[in-house]
Amino acid sequence: MSESIQQLILDTLDTQGSIADTRSLVVPGTSHAATSHDAQLAILGALNSLLSREMVTYETNEVISHALTAEGAQIANEGSHEARVWSVLPLKGQGEPINPGQLKKEVGDETAKVGQGRAFKNGWIGKEGAGLVKLVAEIKDITQLDLKEIEQTGNLSSGEKVLADLRKRKLIAQKKGQWFAVMKGANFSTSIAKPETDLTADMLTSGSWKTSTYKKYNFEAEGIPTSGGALHPLLKVREEIRNNFLEMGFCEMPTQSFVESGFWCFDALFVPQQHPARDLQDTFYLSDPSHSLPPQEAYYDRVKTVHVDGGFGSAGYRAPWQPEESSKLLLRTHTTASSAHMLYKLAAKCRGEDIEDDTKEFTHGAASTKDANDKTTAKVDGFRPAKLFSIDRVFRNETMDATHLAEFHQVEGVVADRNLTLADLIGFMRVFFSKMGIEQVRFKPAYNPYTEASLHIFSFSYDMLILDQPSLEIFAFHPMLNKWVEVGNSGMFRPEMLEPMGFPKDVRVHGWGLSLERPTMIRYGINNIRTLVGHKTSIENIENSPAVMF
Ligand code: PHE
Repeated sequence: MSESIQQLILDTLDTQGSIADTRSLVVPGTSHAATSHDAQLAILGALNSLLSREMVTYETNEVISHALTAEGAQIANEGSHEARVWSVLPLKGQGEPINPGQLKKEVGDETAKVGQGRAFKNGWIGKEGAGLVKLVAEIKDITQLDLKEIEQTGNLSSGEKVLADLRKRKLIAQKKGQWFAVMKGANFSTSIAKPETDLTADMLTSGSWKTSTYKKYNFEAEGIPTSGGALHPLLKVREEIRNNFLEMGFCEMPTQSFVESGFWCFDALFVPQQHPARDLQDTFYLSDPSHSLPPQEAYYDRVKTVHVDGGFGSAGYRAPWQPEESSKLLLRTHTTASSAHMLYKLAAKCRGEDIEDDTKEFTHGAASTKDANDKTTAKVDGFRPAKLFSIDRVFRNETMDATHLAEFHQVEGVVADRNLTLADLIGFMRVFFSKMGIEQVRFKPAYNPYTEASLHIFSFSYDMLILDQPSLEIFAFHPMLNKWVEVGNSGMFRPEMLEPMGFPKDVRVHGWGLSLERPTMIRYGINNIRTLVGHKTSIENIENSPAVMF
């Protein structure tokens, strides 16, 4: 087909010099001018093929044209509903009238329903007794004729009013159409030589390469999409944050234990046993097995004592202690449970214990440092500074909605060194978030049971920095949303948590946590978490999602 159209175009150009309007062409195999939408599409294909060989050039013009809907096409073929109704009836006085039930059988429910009304209105049919008859011996099915004209020409000579009516009846639809003005190209000729697409060994040996014409490279052509694997947006952001941590000298904590005991998830962090976060409504508990093995006894006793009676300068909670609470198994509600395990390990040397192979694991081989405050003895107490991080899954018994699921990923960082201050934490947060592309951060005092200067990372102004304040929330300014959003929670772990582990008094530990989902959703403009995680996630979106910055 395309070849014969190409030939037609070339021959017409040869005789006429140019083609002012391709709608005047009569495409081979048809009897009328190529005014329809489809005919122009076929011509466009032929033109592009000729254009690639520079045999022609063309200009595109746009028109609104009309095309038949499926129902319109059926009417163009078989006649309108009213004509079909009319055609099956006997002429008045010349046969048995047809009753409505019979008519339905003859022409189908739909045609019988729509066609009767219009046939009556046109005066084509009438009632005789309980049946229907033709009133006229001949009809002109204007609807069918109009649709045929539209099918062939894309337009209707009887004008816009009829077109509007046919559109309303959903028999035709408007289409943007194109037609073309064609000129001869640099390589114009009336014979179509198929251009070579490859230079072959045969062409070289026979010498035919010298006279062959070659298909031009199409630099506009899009490559074939590759079908490789693709990282989920959450993994992309995780990888980026992980790299930031590694660049800053952090060691990754092992976080494979999704199941923890109440002891490590809460007690070790000085979260009181009566704290609401430990409720069934907030935490998932395991039923089988339901309880953990006991932790190391001496440490367990120190933790219990600091809760019940106080110590290390603290009055403690002075509330009852239930071993049962401590040994309950649960899905960890935060990765701070893993941090607690690691800090306990880090403090082993300070307790005078030796834990095999721990140097590599979390200190990059850092040497023990001296107690800076203890000038007289300059005693080496086994403490080594450490920077630890993890990015892994945590579980909370939450009511699920557009922004909450019962599990999410937590990004957690911990820094342990002597004499760290809140200013170190804030300064560190600024560097950490600026590496994520978040330059504007503010801090707001907040509460965490296990930190004594805790910051919700958001709005920090100096008059808010009352050192007694327990926690800091971290907020970041989001330029696209044009508002401050909470991005994390941080603080300095309490002595009631650190000293029972065996850390010397001058050791301070910062910690902070944020969700991985929040920044990912903001970055990718996702406002329902279910489009990011779970069965509603679209694979196509994942494959097409770019690596984006905050
Ligand atoms: N565990 C805290 C949370 O779940 C984050 C945090 C970690 C806060 C360490 C302070 C210190 O939100």
